[in-house]
Amino acid sequence: MTFEVTGEAYDRFMGRYSRPLAGSFTDWLDVRAGERALDVGCGPGAWTEHLVQRLGADRVSAIDPSAPFVAACRALPPGVDVREGTAEALPHEDDSFDVAGACPVVHFMTDPLAGLKELARVTRPGCWVGATVWDIAGRRAPMATIWSALDKVAPARETESTEWSEGHLEELFERAGLHHVDGTQLAVTVTHASFDEWWEPYLHGVGPIGETIAGLDPERREQVRAHCHELSGDGPFDLTAVAFAVRGRA
Ligand SMILES: C[S@@+](CC[C@H](N)C(=O)[O-])C[C@H]1O[C@@H](n2cnc3c(N)ncnc32)[C@H](O)[C@@H]1O
Repeated sequence: MTFEVTGEAYDRFMGRYSRPLAGSFTDWLDVRAGERALDVGCGPGAWTEHLVQRLGADRVSAIDPSAPFVAACRALPPGVDVREGTAEALPHEDDSFDVAGACPVVHFMTDPLAGLKELARVTRPGCWVGATVWDIAGRRAPMATIWSALDKVAPARETESTEWSEGHLEELFERAGLHHVDGTQLAVTVTHASFDEWWEPYLHGVGPIGETIAGLDPERREQVRAHCHELSGDGPFDLTAVAFAVRGRA
């Protein structure tokens, strides 16, 4: 399981992009003081933290199947109800929340449709359910440079699913019975101080791309690193990644 790693390792690998994405997602869902919110697939708490800032810890719940991520999320300001579990079988009561979201999580669910139906079930009728997925198919995800390098060096590798092209998440929201479904694209730009600062977090086996890198023999891994270096330079450099965001009313 590629997410059975420390929250710290995840934050250095992906949290550096998912935190700013979660900030834009909070604004786009128009989360307002007084609401109750659920963060599904919370990881170490990228979106949870934004929700706590806006709503207060006692109005925020979070859930994730990874025990170390649940522990990391529980270490945020106390008071957040953080549980271990999956989207497909949420332990929460019907109509418990004014907003529920999963970012970027749906493409990791075993059964994305069942997961979205659960998000709809626990959200009050008329309130927003939302989700984000990086634009994997369009090569605008944070790890796109590495995929380009892998194409050259190790083309037979396993990759992350590319079915999540524009429109796929909207279609799934409709099938889950959500109403007034609409989508947008959210871009985040992160400045990397140096090439090594960008590359090093990929060496710890986090997520599918981390597993792929860890599974390469040392010579291939060095070829991927060298090709990425050629593409990115020594740094500092800005990396812009784009996610599809979708919302629908329960
Ligand atoms: C890319 S991380 C996103 C974490 C966090 N939301 C963020 O924005 O950084 C994907 C998360 O989905 C979780 N996950 C995987 N399968 C899941 C499922 N079936 N239900 C809920 N979460 C799941 C993983 O444990 C991981 O924390």
